[in-house]
Amino acid sequence: MKKDLLTLRDITRDDLEHIFELASRLKRERGRVPHPVLTGRSIGLIFAKSSTRTRVSFEVGVSEMGGTPLYLDQSKMQVGRGETVHDTAKVLSRYLHGIVIRTFSHAGVEELAREASIPVINALTDDFHPCQLLADLLTIREYSGRVDGAITTAFYGDGRSNIANSCILAAKLTGMQLVIASPERPNLELAEGASNIRWESDPIKAAEGVDYFYTDVWVSMGFEEEKERRMKLFAPYQVNAALFRKAKPGAKFLHCLPAHRGEEVTAEVMDSPASIVFDEAENRLHVQKAVMSMLMGNR
Ligand code: CP
Ligand code: NVA
Repeated sequence: MKKDLLTLRDITRDDLEHIFELASRLKRERGRVPHPVLTGRSIGLIFAKSSTRTRVSFEVGVSEMGGTPLYLDQSKMQVGRGETVHDTAKVLSRYLHGIVIRTFSHAGVEELAREASIPVINALTDDFHPCQLLADLLTIREYSGRVDGAITTAFYGDGRSNIANSCILAAKLTGMQLVIASPERPNLELAEGASNIRWESDPIKAAEGVDYFYTDVWVSMGFEEEKERRMKLFAPYQVNAALFRKAKPGAKFLHCLPAHRGEEVTAEVMDSPASIVFDEAENRLHVQKAVMSMLMGNR
């Protein structure tokens, strides 16, 4: 695997299989078999945006592997007062064994990773959220026994969000069929011409033959000023029971969470037996432990 995980472009299909296997083993053995690969290691968790799942799953994951997690509020760091990313990266590399970062600018995270001598994991930027998609792919694999061209996932709503972009890279990596159901053209250039990835502006058509519906908030962190426009624009792309009637029997519902019932998904779908969002959220812990073990662990 490469030094850093900034987007799913940083991993190969073999890396992905390794992450699946290790994450599944860590999940099975959790609380019974220790996996102390971070003993004596300190992992900095830099957050410039809110988080529930990512922060808690990384802190718990580091602790469970014997390491020390350090939560760092970016607004309280000197980088928030003008210290350069370069100097921050050099200094943190002298103290820590790895950095997990959630912030706004993806280019800023790329710079941090370039300048740091320790591994950097992207825990969400405005453009990508690779850890989320690793958990989603593991969840699909658990439910369907595979993640490849036989699986069709439809992402609904903000087709240019960090989650939608990451779905495109996930489909490129796995060959899974991906339909982005959105009013505006998604960032299809990320697909680099892959024929398994398409855009469909008709939400009903997009639901045909779907195994997994996936959605995300309509107003991502940092885009609050556009709330009014977004609520109107994405309203026709709500995931609801009507879409399930067009999909394959037994279709499931995924959401990265947090969810807004009545906006991007109805309460009926979110709280139905088709919803596997809490298995998906749990898998964040297991895949991130696998990734940290591979990138930051004692070998
Ligand atoms: N899905 C996700 O990243 O959740 P948080 O924003 O709560 O970390
Ligand atoms: N697109 C959302 C994902 C939250 C996990 C956001 O960036 O706010």
